[in-house]
Amino acid sequence: MDTPITRVSSPAGARLAIVPGSAGRSLADAVAHRLGITPLSTRTRTFPDGEHDIAVDPDVRGTDAYLIQSLEPPVNENLVELVLLLDAARRAGAAGLTAVIPYLGYSRKDRRASPGEAVSLRVVANLIESSGADEAILVDPHVPQVDSIFSIPLDVLSAVPLLAASVAPLIPPEAVVVAPDLGAVHLAERYAGELGLDRVAVIRKTRVSGTNVEATAVIGDGAGRAALLVDDMISTGSTLEAAASRMRETWGVPPLAIAATHGLFVGDAVARIESLGFSAMAVSNSVTPTRAPAGCRIVPLDELLAGAIDRRRSRRPAG
Ligand code: R5P
Repeated sequence: MDTPITRVSSPAGARLAIVPGSAGRSLADAVAHRLGITPLSTRTRTFPDGEHDIAVDPDVRGTDAYLIQSLEPPVNENLVELVLLLDAARRAGAAGLTAVIPYLGYSRKDRRASPGEAVSLRVVANLIESSGADEAILVDPHVPQVDSIFSIPLDVLSAVPLLAASVAPLIPPEAVVVAPDLGAVHLAERYAGELGLDRVAVIRKTRVSGTNVEATAVIGDGAGRAALLVDDMISTGSTLEAAASRMRETWGVPPLAIAATHGLFVGDAVARIESLGFSAMAVSNSVTPTRAPAGCRIVPLDELLAGAIDRRRSRRPAG
């Protein structure tokens, strides 16, 4: 039988440590730099048969450790690495262990949409918790009610103010913010609030397949107005493509701006989005920015994450 994994001491007053996963290394470096420390080293190798070989610097012992790993593609590889790193840090004696997951993959399945489906987000949350995370920091998770899925305390941050500020100079006051599906209406309202805009429209979307969606109608008035199309994530680009096409058929072709927190850009997403001819576009670096449409700004999250870590530590009583 395996030995139980327990916290070795309270993190109050414990030294801060940043532990980078391979899908978060550059962000972890920037966060650590802002916090004035050097990230701990990790070994994230893969055996020839595909198994991960994971280890963390034993100096993690007694620290208040923040492990930064995005669940970006390859999602399954990065998920396994995350839970193995958590286990390694916990077994090495981290006093406090927070999983910092800038992009939480598997978030689209937070319930059974049809009989027989797995509730993937619940499984992922269970894995993260049972591997040793005491708490987690997330950025714009797809599911607003993510608190009801995880049992550990969550700090849910948002990149929306940063992304809105990034595109703001190119958004005129009469612009309309467009949600590409009903689930994004609240997000569109938040962008409108940040930008001081009072018009929000929504697209009726039906997903045909993983790479194809149909935008059947646009609800709201945007005729002749510049539009800001917003989403929490861009995967294949099919949602943006269908939404932009429906907007143009309904309203004409005024300037189009795009903002989304998580730019996964899988398959031919980059080409699909470039063909839309946007006037401004911004995504964050919650997903390691290895590719993005030309002209898309990558808004860094290191200040947001470092600020959250700093605030949490200043709230903890001194040990
Ligand atoms: C769906 O509910 C999400 O908010 C995104 O609209 C969707 O995941 C984007 O995927 P894709 O870029 O493949 O259309």
